[in-house]
Order: sequence, then C-alpha cells, then structure tokens
Amino acid sequence: MYENPRLILDSSNPPEAGNITWRSPSNIAIVKYWGKHGRQLPRNPSLSLTLAASCTDTQLEYAFDEALPGAGIDLAFYFHQAENEAFRAKTLAFLESLLPVYPFLKQLKLTVRTGNSFPHSAGIASSASAMSALALCLCSLEDRLFGTLQDAAAFDRKASYLARLGSGSACRSIFPHAALWGHTSLVPDASDEYAVPIGDLMHVSFKDFHDDILIVSSEEKAVSSRAGHALMEGNPFAEPRYAQARQRIGNLLDAMRTGDLEAFGKIAEDEALALHALMMCSDPSYLLMRPGSLAIIEKVREYRADTGHPVFFTLDAGPNVHLLYPGDIVHEVRKFIEDELAEHCENGYVQQDWVGEGPEEM
Ligand code: PMV
Repeated sequence: MYENPRLILDSSNPPEAGNITWRSPSNIAIVKYWGKHGRQLPRNPSLSLTLAASCTDTQLEYAFDEALPGAGIDLAFYFHQAENEAFRAKTLAFLESLLPVYPFLKQLKLTVRTGNSFPHSAGIASSASAMSALALCLCSLEDRLFGTLQDAAAFDRKASYLARLGSGSACRSIFPHAALWGHTSLVPDASDEYAVPIGDLMHVSFKDFHDDILIVSSEEKAVSSRAGHALMEGNPFAEPRYAQARQRIGNLLDAMRTGDLEAFGKIAEDEALALHALMMCSDPSYLLMRPGSLAIIEKVREYRADTGHPVFFTLDAGPNVHLLYPGDIVHEVRKFIEDELAEHCENGYVQQDWVGEGPEEM
C-alpha cells in the first residue's frame, strides 16, 4: 500500500551522511495473534499492552553511495557492538523486501547498530522491539531525506505497517499504552495492515499495569513462531479459534473501557491457554510450556483465591510466564514472586516491566 517509485535520491544533489536512533519497546498480547496469511496478515485481530523496560535501541547510519546497477543493499550490522552475520542476513532480506516502498535504500551505505535492554539470552522475545525500532528509523530516514512524513499520525501508521512486514506483532509496539491490530468494526480505522492506538479507549487503571516476566527457560524454542503460525493452516480448531478471538476482542475492549480487572484477567488467562492448546492440537503437536510454567500458573490461581488480589498470568509462544497486575499491589506481588515463584525461574531471573509510553527517538 505504500509502494512509491518516486522515493529516489537525486545523485546531483546527494544528502549529507547522518544517523538516527530509536528506542522501541516490546509488547504483550492479551488477545493473541496466532495464524496468518499472505504477507504477514493476521487471521484475527489482536490487542496488546505496550511495555516499557524490555526494549531495543537501534541506530541507523546512512551515507550516500550510488549503487552499481544490479547491486543489492549495502548493509553492515552490529549487535551489542559485535558483527552478527545471522542478524545481518535477516535484516538485509527485510530491507530488500522493502525496496518497492523505499527504492532509495539502494543508494545508501547503511550501518545498523542495535542492542536490547534485557539480557539477549534471557528467552524474552525481541522481534517486536527490534523490528519496531528499525521501522521507526526507516520512517525518520524517509522524512529526513524527502520530508514526506511530517504528520505524526501518518508517521506512526507507516512505521507500524513496516514493522508488521518485519514481524507481525511488532506493529503493535509503535503506540503508547495499548494497541489493536487487525480489522474489527469495533474500532474506527482498525486494519490488518497496521496497528492503531487504543490507549485513549482504556480506563486509567490499566495505564499503571505491571508485567513481570518470569523466565522459566531461556533456551531457544523447539518450534519457532513462524512454524507455529504455519501449523495453524492444518489445525482442525483454526476456524473456531479465529471466531473466539474476534468475540474476545469485543469483550476485552469493554473490560478495558470500564476498568473491569476481573473480566480483563479472565480473557488474558483464557487466551494464554488457548494459544498453547492450539500448539498441542497441531499436527505435529508440540508443547512449549515447561513444568515450571504450570507450577507458576497454579500458584497464581491459588494466590488470587487466597488474597483476592487481581493478579493474572499470560504466556507468549514460549515457557515464560507474564504476571499482570495493577501498580497499587506491586509490593505484595513482588514479595509473592520472591517467596513462591522465583524458585521456578532459571537462576531466579525475573524481568520487571510495566505499561509504557511507547517508542522514543534518541
Ligand atoms: O509476531 P510473531 O510472528 O513473532 O508472532 C507472535 C505471536 C504471539 O506472540 C504468540 C502472540 C502475539 O499476538 O504477540
């Protein structure tokens, strides 16, 4: 939708070299995106909270360098100050796929320097923060070179679109507080192509929500998200699942509007277990939860029944458990984590996070 052959630099008046840096956060889906078609288009709408502490810093350096005919994009890539060939190849493939949108990328020598705020072997997914940070750098670059993204909402929408092409869930990281991705008649402008901000639709009690990520295992997943999405195509529960997600989006929007923590928490937990049930029902089936994940889930439910505190769990496509709760019980919950849950975490590691204000240009 953004293809533009006119975004080409004039070699008789080349731009000065420069650099752009963005910090962008991860996000945690409450209604999950699981199953896609076409070029990263979702089978159902999803809704996430934007995080604050788990983020990626990405610097994009550029210098004019007229490409030889037939040559590809000139890219160097550093991850935590070290050259990284695997990440370079992935980023290069992504940038090459964007050439119809950004033909000028071939006219530049590019260097990407990136790093995460969390230990990179911690088992915390970084594709959402990494792809959104890179997409934001590209939109800043477009605006600097051509002045074509002056309008803030248009800038964010294009950044969300580009992030989606890199990693679906990354499109939701562009916005503060919360975002919705995927067509639904319930939210104006909602689209499969990009996410839209919904922070204004949510009750204040969600704006200081916490998400402490309990790292049960940092091992690489046996089945990647990409393979997991693909397995939904043959899953006998796929169609009912997509209908269920659409229904839950409506219920979740209501709960978030009115500040109904119980309804919010029930949807969060039901979604986490539905996601993992879909994995168990795939052919071949697989399990990403570990015994520690289940132990934590049981203890959270017991703790909630005993104390009445609104503490809920959710899971991504992995064994780590996200603990969601409002800021006014942070001391009680942190003590509960320390006393009862940390023993199920790898080296007792917990990444503390909370709802954030979205990406920032550095
Ligand atoms: O964005 P991907 O392709 O890595 O898929 C992410 C899917 C989940 O994290 C499991 C759910 C979601 O909506 O973020």
